[in-house]
Amino acid sequence: MALDRKAPNDLNAFWMPFTANRQFKKNPRMFVAAKDMHYTTSDGRQVLDGTAGLWCCNAGHCRPKITEAIQKQAAELDYAPAFQMGHPVAFELANRIVEIAPAGIEHVFYTNSGSESVETALKLAIAYHRAKGQATRTRLIGRERGYHGVNFGGISVGGIVNNRRHFGSLLNGVDHLPHTHLPDENRWSRGQPEHGAWLADDLEKLVALHGAETIAAVIVEPVAGSTGVILPPKGYLEKLRAITKKHGILLIFDEVITGFGRLGAPFASQYFDVLPDMMTTAKGLTNGVIPMGAVLTTADVHDAFMDGPEHMIELFHGYTYSGNPIASAAGIATLETYKEEALFDRAAEIAPYWEDALHSLRDSRHVIDVRNMGLIGAVELDPIAGEPTKRAFSAFLAAYDKNILIRTTGDIIAMSPPLMISKSQIDTLIGTLADVLRALD
Ligand SMILES: Cc1ncc(COP(=O)(O)O)c(C=O)c1O
Repeated sequence: MALDRKAPNDLNAFWMPFTANRQFKKNPRMFVAAKDMHYTTSDGRQVLDGTAGLWCCNAGHCRPKITEAIQKQAAELDYAPAFQMGHPVAFELANRIVEIAPAGIEHVFYTNSGSESVETALKLAIAYHRAKGQATRTRLIGRERGYHGVNFGGISVGGIVNNRRHFGSLLNGVDHLPHTHLPDENRWSRGQPEHGAWLADDLEKLVALHGAETIAAVIVEPVAGSTGVILPPKGYLEKLRAITKKHGILLIFDEVITGFGRLGAPFASQYFDVLPDMMTTAKGLTNGVIPMGAVLTTADVHDAFMDGPEHMIELFHGYTYSGNPIASAAGIATLETYKEEALFDRAAEIAPYWEDALHSLRDSRHVIDVRNMGLIGAVELDPIAGEPTKRAFSAFLAAYDKNILIRTTGDIIAMSPPLMISKSQIDTLIGTLADVLRALD
């Protein structure tokens, strides 16, 4: 049923997440349907999806194979207990994930979101060292401007001040690496920035400060999305891997947005050819259609727990919906859709066109940086003095009125379209954004 876009009075009960609720409810923006690259609004407009929902609908919207798999599974086995019982679909999906994961990743622990994947990986890291007889390794290292979801572990290792400062003292025993955003050195980067690999050396400083024997894990996003697309400088991730290995510290890649083809490879780990000990995933795993996440681990991490009497539970952790049958069926259908349509290769092929289109905005009004990688792009705007975020939010609203969906974080416009986007749709998205910027105060 179509809703009245202007109707303000029945929107009170739903307290919306990460939303300016009062602004929204005065002038709601409602999607009522979606197909492939477009959303349909409640006032009947077609909006081109420049963000794959929230970086999750990598295969586009309402894909028949995924829809059918969900319908079929719901009618056949709706739910099975996740603890001490199994069902074949979850096992099958795990095998298929491992098939496309980098060599060395062999196990899958299911969650329901990126945030839960992060909490799971952090707990696994601490428990892994304990299982290996190194119980002093409890410290977790994140990074400034990192986003690892919204639960306590994730906001503690995360580095976004507004996500942290309202919520008390968070986890203790956490420290942070510096972020890798160096605008003076790397402005207008196409792909990996040249400068900044040295920022990984700060991990040596943290080791010197705290002692390696206190550090369990380092968690980073290979490409940081939520704080406005921060790219890893050339050599940076390799260095992090070398230093973590040298000191017996686990490396966790948060691949919640980079997983499932966003960079034109199944995972960022393959794109950068750096193998972490764990990868956190969600979003593109089910094309965003059903909540599901997964932590992928090496055999070394998994096997550390496979000890003790066989009747004993090895890991006291899990969720009621871990490996839910309907989510698992959606996951399998999603991976099949990616494969049948070669969507990861497609993303890699169209990425240079995407890059050129984005960088055509370089001389647009207010633009102070453009950066990109795979099918990710960021256009950074000069903030209005004393009113940070306002200019980009105005751009977001104007873009929506012009039938394109972009996302803004701070004064950065971030885009991450479904991997099926065509060249002409890229032209529409970027051309419309250019119009929006031209008219922006
Ligand atoms: C890198 C990263 N980690 C974790 C999350 C949290 O995922 P969720 O919102 O599914 O909890 C996100 C969400 O955007 C993310 O980008």
